[in-house]
Amino acid sequence: MNPTLDLMQQHRSSRSYLDKPVPADVLNAVLDAAWRGPTSINGQQVSLVVVQDPTRRAEIARIAGGQPWIAQAPVFVTVVVDFHKTAVGARLAGEEQVIHDSVEGFAVGAVDAGIALGNLMTAARAAGLGVVPIGGIRRDPQAMINLLALPPLTFPIAGVALGYVDQDSSVKPRLPRDSFVHAEAYQTAGLEERIQQYDQQLAAYWQDIGRAEGQPWSANVAQFYRSVYFPQVAPVAREQGFGFDR
Ligand SMILES: Cc1cc2nc3c(=O)[nH]c(=O)nc-3n(C[C@H](O)[C@H](O)[C@H](O)COP(=O)(O)O)c2cc1C
Repeated sequence: MNPTLDLMQQHRSSRSYLDKPVPADVLNAVLDAAWRGPTSINGQQVSLVVVQDPTRRAEIARIAGGQPWIAQAPVFVTVVVDFHKTAVGARLAGEEQVIHDSVEGFAVGAVDAGIALGNLMTAARAAGLGVVPIGGIRRDPQAMINLLALPPLTFPIAGVALGYVDQDSSVKPRLPRDSFVHAEAYQTAGLEERIQQYDQQLAAYWQDIGRAEGQPWSANVAQFYRSVYFPQVAPVAREQGFGFDR
């Protein structure tokens, strides 16, 4: 198979890292892959903040709710939704930016940040590194803003820990492909059966890899989505100057 497709189909998150630095040329090539990514209207409303200092990585691990792999991996990249740069650009052109005061603005920034995150992960894995994306930084976004000195109109939406893998992980099964890829129009028929089938498949996977605490997919989403698990996102985003009412 094409090596890029093969790499992407072998995606897995890694949560065990060697104490081995990532050479600067390798890290820069990975960061360049994200820098070169597409953005809506070429607005480039994304920034990356690269943290390698061990004390600061330990602090991010703590902010994210105690995720040891963040402290262990030698590099943590925060992907920042960045309407600070665009506001400066708009002001230079004689206009006041308003897009950050809308759901559209946050959607644009989040999509562009997701593309950057995806490119970072693919590039890192192509360079022989392991990755784990981290949304846990949204548990306390104000602490991330303080740590990274983020200006108004920016928001730390997600991050990724990367480094050389110690204990390799395995490819996690997904919901049946026909509940993901829909031909021509969305198919709702048979979804419950497919979810039940996947719950069983995931239970077998957890057993295979010795994770006794692994849950079925339906129980996992139920547990997370019965509440707004990171309630600081909206108030801190508003504090940073974002609005969601138009
Ligand atoms: C945006 C995003 C945020 C995530 N946040 C975390 C996180 O905070 N901690 C963690 O250990 N894994 C996190 N993950 C990894 C998911 O748990 C993982 O991708 C999912 O279980 C599928 O497993 P796989 O990546 O090994 O295929 C995140 C993934 C994404 C895409």
